[in-house]
Amino acid sequence: MTKLFFLLSGEHPTLPSSELKSILEAEGYKHRVLQELTQVLRLEADVKSVKSVMFRSAMTRVCAAELFNCDAKIAEILERMRSISLEGIIERGESFVVRTKRIRGNASHLARGELERKLGELILNKGRGTRVNLKNPQKTFFGILTDNRLIFGLKIGKVSPKPFVERRPRKRPFFHPSAMPAKLARCMVNLAQPKTGQLLMDPFCGTASMLVEAGLIGCRVVGFDVKRRMVEGSLQNLLCYGVKPEGMAVADARHFPAIRADCIVTDPPYGRSATTLGWSTQQIMKDFLSTVEDRLPRGRKMCIASPKSIRVGKIGKESGFKHVESHLVHVHRSLTREIAVFERT
Ligand SMILES: C[S@@+](CC[C@H](N)C(=O)[O-])C[C@H]1O[C@@H](n2cnc3c(N)ncnc32)[C@H](O)[C@@H]1O
Repeated sequence: MTKLFFLLSGEHPTLPSSELKSILEAEGYKHRVLQELTQVLRLEADVKSVKSVMFRSAMTRVCAAELFNCDAKIAEILERMRSISLEGIIERGESFVVRTKRIRGNASHLARGELERKLGELILNKGRGTRVNLKNPQKTFFGILTDNRLIFGLKIGKVSPKPFVERRPRKRPFFHPSAMPAKLARCMVNLAQPKTGQLLMDPFCGTASMLVEAGLIGCRVVGFDVKRRMVEGSLQNLLCYGVKPEGMAVADARHFPAIRADCIVTDPPYGRSATTLGWSTQQIMKDFLSTVEDRLPRGRKMCIASPKSIRVGKIGKESGFKHVESHLVHVHRSLTREIAVFERT
């Protein structure tokens, strides 16, 4: 087990760390959370787990191996830096850079440029023949100033948000205003904890946002929608991103084909841009949740997005599921989404 820390996206207070922990669970990496700070998660896990996080995560930004963490006080920081050995961290003669990030104006008494320079000098003084290369370093030391602490270590990898922006709903061949942003769709897929190769089902698939994101991390996917136009559109989108579904069909999710999947990730209609065929969202959710239970093996997960007002957690519990967690996502003045995770008991 290695001490690791992750810089998380600041777009939501709880989703990024839940997503990251779900990825470790899904991939079978034992881990121990050490501390949750603003936009930082510190934990102990196999360093190999970082590769899975970088491949799957939508809301992690940087992954690093921790060298030290201390109060954001210059004397203490420099003392900790002086006392660490760089054996096995940076090879003799390698080039490096020190970068820092300040979260929400934290520790404003420390100037980042000066802090990076002082830490860099101490690394140079360790006499390993290392040199600074600001543009193309072999190693990057990375520090985060958050909650009056400095978390400092060696960067292992980063997750670029760019591919998610490139897959935004308007960029896909088939667009519908009810489509889920790619980043949130990927996060929901991860919260349902599918392993690579497992079957993920979306019974209200719309434009296939969830299915595309699941397919891109190596899941098999199956989708339904009550509207033929949406199923055809989903197929166009899946084709565009090279995801071959196991099956797609026009079906009513309240009585859909008897297919068992390893997890379900879905976004039933809210009665705004997506049709409810005259039923209330609450009724659709009740009908759907009462039929879906035996489609999941025990212990497997389901992640559902719905308007906060319908209280999906309560409906899920009444239908026999364990309500694992919920996250509220503000969309606009009249819509807050609840992202709820359930487990089949
Ligand atoms: C909110 S949209 C899903 C959006 C989707 N997550 C996406 O990103 O494109 C809900 C979808 O459910 C479909 N729908 C409505 N009632 C349904 C039902 N009873 N069974 C299956 N699909 C239904 C609608 O046609 C719509 O495409």
